[in-house]
Amino acid sequence: MNVHVKAGATLLDDTNAAFAEDVAIGLSQHPKQLPPQYFYDEAGSKLFEQITLLPEYYPTRTELRILRDRGTDIAAGVPQGAALVEFGAGATTKVRLMLHQCSFGAYVPVDISGDFLNEQADGLRKDFPHLAVYPVTADFTKPFALPAEVKDMPKVGFFPGSTIGNFDPHEACAFLKSARDILGDGATLIIGVDLEKDERVLHDAYNDAAGVTGKFNSNVLVRINRELGGNFDVPGFIHRAIYNRERHRIEMHLVARKAQSVRVLGHSYAFRAGESIHTESSYKYSLDRFAALARGAGWTPQASWTDADGMFSVHALKAVV
Ligand code: AVI
Repeated sequence: MNVHVKAGATLLDDTNAAFAEDVAIGLSQHPKQLPPQYFYDEAGSKLFEQITLLPEYYPTRTELRILRDRGTDIAAGVPQGAALVEFGAGATTKVRLMLHQCSFGAYVPVDISGDFLNEQADGLRKDFPHLAVYPVTADFTKPFALPAEVKDMPKVGFFPGSTIGNFDPHEACAFLKSARDILGDGATLIIGVDLEKDERVLHDAYNDAAGVTGKFNSNVLVRINRELGGNFDVPGFIHRAIYNRERHRIEMHLVARKAQSVRVLGHSYAFRAGESIHTESSYKYSLDRFAALARGAGWTPQASWTDADGMFSVHALKAVV
């Protein structure tokens, strides 16, 4: 591990050197921004789990309902004995449903956090003793190799949760292309995608009454203070989530309550009163716009399923040769 020493004698390893660089770049931009992947340390992941249970946050429970209710149709497009490759490993509820409904030969969870991945894998091995589990520690947005053991199995990618919505359209296209390269010709991708809907419903889902989403949002400032020796006055920034209609996305912001200056690793960043840091975009698609995105990345849409109220969608895409 490379260790770098920076101003203020804060010790940075490779992981927080990347964090430091992203923070320095993001806070120097106009408008200021921070990449959403830094929400998810241990505390942030717990807060996200709490979000998924909020009455206003419909995506998780709606997607689960679709996976459960349309399980037979989904399973019909999945070849017997395929390797299920999950991009990112979170709560295992959804993958467990898939494993119960289809007969997979192996499960390959891919995540950057090796410890978390191995914990999840151990739990699944206990509950599915006949399933071969091959965790891969990798950044799933970049090219990675599948384990040799699954080389000859048909491949089914799984990317639930509308995490694709947190990518800008060019990143979403790049991810879909990369997933196609990794999974190979003939593969299937089962992907969850949140849908456009009444703006009030979207607004409430990202501005919950209990304030959990606000805590999740501010967690990135808490991390900057702890891991990079920053001096953000966390309560000095207020959570705001707004729907950007032209860009079909919910934007999360942290807005400075008053003019202030913040120091991180020897640099000073000035904020005007009301100035915001854009911390996350969550894109919402129509079925047609998502199908067009998938086609542009080399996938052929096979089927899509939604709940009765058209809140959320699950798509099956095929890598046709
Ligand atoms: C993980 N991701 C799909 C969530 C979303 O809805 O965009 C993250 C989130 N942000 C605020 N609430 C939930």
